[in-house]
Amino acid sequence: MSKRIDVNNLNVFYGSFLAVEDVSLSIEAKSVTAFIGPSGCGKSTFLRTLNRMHEVIPGARVEGEVLMDGLNLYDPQIDPVAVRRHVGMVFQRPNPFPTMSIAENVLAGVKLNNKRISKGDAEELVESSLRGANLWEEVKDRLDKPGSSLSGGQQQRLCIARAIAIKPDVLLMDEPCSALDPISTLAIEDLIQELKSEYTIVIVTHNMQQAARVSEKTAFFNIAGTGKPGKLIEMDDTTTIFSAPAEKATEDYISGRFG
Ligand SMILES: Nc1ncnc2c1ncn2[C@@H]1O[C@H](COP(=O)(O)OP(=O)(O)OP(=O)(O)O)[C@@H](O)[C@H]1O
Ligand SMILES: [Mg+2]
Repeated sequence: MSKRIDVNNLNVFYGSFLAVEDVSLSIEAKSVTAFIGPSGCGKSTFLRTLNRMHEVIPGARVEGEVLMDGLNLYDPQIDPVAVRRHVGMVFQRPNPFPTMSIAENVLAGVKLNNKRISKGDAEELVESSLRGANLWEEVKDRLDKPGSSLSGGQQQRLCIARAIAIKPDVLLMDEPCSALDPISTLAIEDLIQELKSEYTIVIVTHNMQQAARVSEKTAFFNIAGTGKPGKLIEMDDTTTIFSAPAEKATEDYISGRFG
């Protein structure tokens, strides 16, 4: 199931350092939302607050609310491990477990969550997840080969298969194509387009064309200077952000006049 996210007045800290200040925004279900902005403005930091990965860093904490279909993920009664089961994540560098086979990689997240599944169910899940990630045809005859035997683009699709195998409500992607060639990048973008019918997707990207191609909404984050907190400058329909943004800072950034 795909879920909506509402963030209210979120401050994100590393110890005493306020990395991201006072963000409020909404992310629609079954859509793709892009986060753009210069390096260091807090895109990755903010993204990780959406599945409670931020707080695994010692001293890291947040203030404010992240609501998923109205439920506050930071409510003291909520188990962060359960949150991560509902909100999957794909990172910048494909990170399959190198010693695990392709099939084991797909199942890794499911097994981490201590779910016991039968051999038949496991095989079915491997196939459906690899199909979902557009990788099945390329690997169906070598499922027992190591994940590290795949190309970079295939490894990233394997990581997407691993993320969707847990059947998340939300998929977070932090620059998922930055280590990939243009062909693999387009394959991932096609996949994102397909996945959005089932998932709420948030993608961080430095590639403006990519944001314009894949997302319905775009949020622009910026930073006033080193040591200052990153802030959300504006969020709107992607076509509006790229054609007629409300803020000059956004215009400067998207037209390359930044810095
Ligand atoms: N583990 C950490 N401990 C302390 N500070 C951190 C940590 N990770 C990030 N930061 C700081 O938080 C701020 C935001 O970093 P973040 O990685 O979120 O930026 P970003 O927008 O994702 O940048 P990029 O586009 O380069 O990936 C930066 O000042 C960064 O140095
Ligand atoms: Mg980042």
